Amino acid sequence: MKITVVGAGAVGATCADNIARKELATELVLLDIKEGFAEGKAMDMMQTATLLGFDTKITGSTNDYSKTANSDVVVITSGIPRKPGMTREELIGTNANIVKGVVENTLKYSPNAIIVVISNPMDTMTYLALKSSGLPKNRIIGMGGILDSARFKYYLSQALNCSANDLHGVVIGGHGDTTMIPLTRLAQLNGFAVSNLLDAATLQKVAADTMVGGATLTGLLGTSAWYAPGAAGAALVESIVRDEKKVFPCCVSLDGEYGQKDICLGVPVVIGKNGWEKILDYKLNDEEQATFNKSADAVRNMNAVLHDMNVI
Ligand code: 2OP
Repeated sequence: MKITVVGAGAVGATCADNIARKELATELVLLDIKEGFAEGKAMDMMQTATLLGFDTKITGSTNDYSKTANSDVVVITSGIPRKPGMTREELIGTNANIVKGVVENTLKYSPNAIIVVISNPMDTMTYLALKSSGLPKNRIIGMGGILDSARFKYYLSQALNCSANDLHGVVIGGHGDTTMIPLTRLAQLNGFAVSNLLDAATLQKVAADTMVGGATLTGLLGTSAWYAPGAAGAALVESIVRDEKKVFPCCVSLDGEYGQKDICLGVPVVIGKNGWEKILDYKLNDEEQATFNKSADAVRNMNAVLHDMNVI
C-alpha cells in the first residue's frame, strides 16, 4: 500500500504522522512545493520509527510527482490556511488553482488513486477535484464532516461531563462556519438521546460552538488547526486501506440523494477500499432538510466562483 500526502504543512504532516503510526502504508510520500520542506518532515518522522515502533518508509519530495507514482490513496492538503477572522471561503482565489494543479499532477502518476481532499474551502475543492479530473465519483472524498463530528462530540462531552467516546454525533452539510449542520436530534450518549439529557439552550450552544470550532482554534492559534484535521484525514484513509466500511460523514458527489444534485456535500457514507461506497439516508425532518438545502445553496454559490475563475 502506497499513500501520498500532498502539502507538508501542519495538517499534511500531522495526517502523515498518524498514517505512519497506524502503519496504514508500506510507503508514504510527503510532497510539498517548498524546497526541502517535505524531505525534512519525512526525515524527522522517520527518526521516530524506532521510538514509536512503526515500519512505514516515509520519503519527502519537493514537487517531484514521479516519487508519488502508483499511490493507492492521495491526500490533498495543499493551499493556504486561514488566518484569524477569515472564513474558509475566502481562500478560494488562491487554493482553487493550487488544488487543480495537484489533482492533475497526481493523476498523471497515480491514475487509480482514491483522492481525499482536505484543502479549503473543502466542499468546493472536492467539487473542483471531481469536475476537473473526470474520475468516478466514488474515488473523490472530501474530509470535513469527520472533523466537525469529532468537534461536535468534544463540545457535547464538555456539556455532559462524559467521555467523548461514548457519544454518537454527526455533522452533515458543508464544512463552513454557517453551512455545517450538527444533527442534535440524532446525537446519543450510549443509546440515550442527548436532547433528553441537555436543555435546549445548552444543546443549541453546543451546535453553535461546533460550527465555529475551526474559527475558535484559528483565533487561538493564529492559523488553522492541525491535530484534529490531520487525525480525521488519517481515520478516513484507514477506513479506505483497511476496507473497514466505517460510516463517516464525508463530502461526496450527490445525484439526487438528500434532494441535491451536481454538488459535493457532507452526508453519511460507507468508506471502504473503493472509496465511498454507499450513501446512507438519515431521513431528515423538514427543518433539517430546509437547513441542508440552505447549506447546499451556499456551497453552490461558492462553486460558481470556479466557473468565474475558469478553473472548471
Ligand atoms: C478546520 O476546520 C482546517 O478546515 C480545517 O480546522
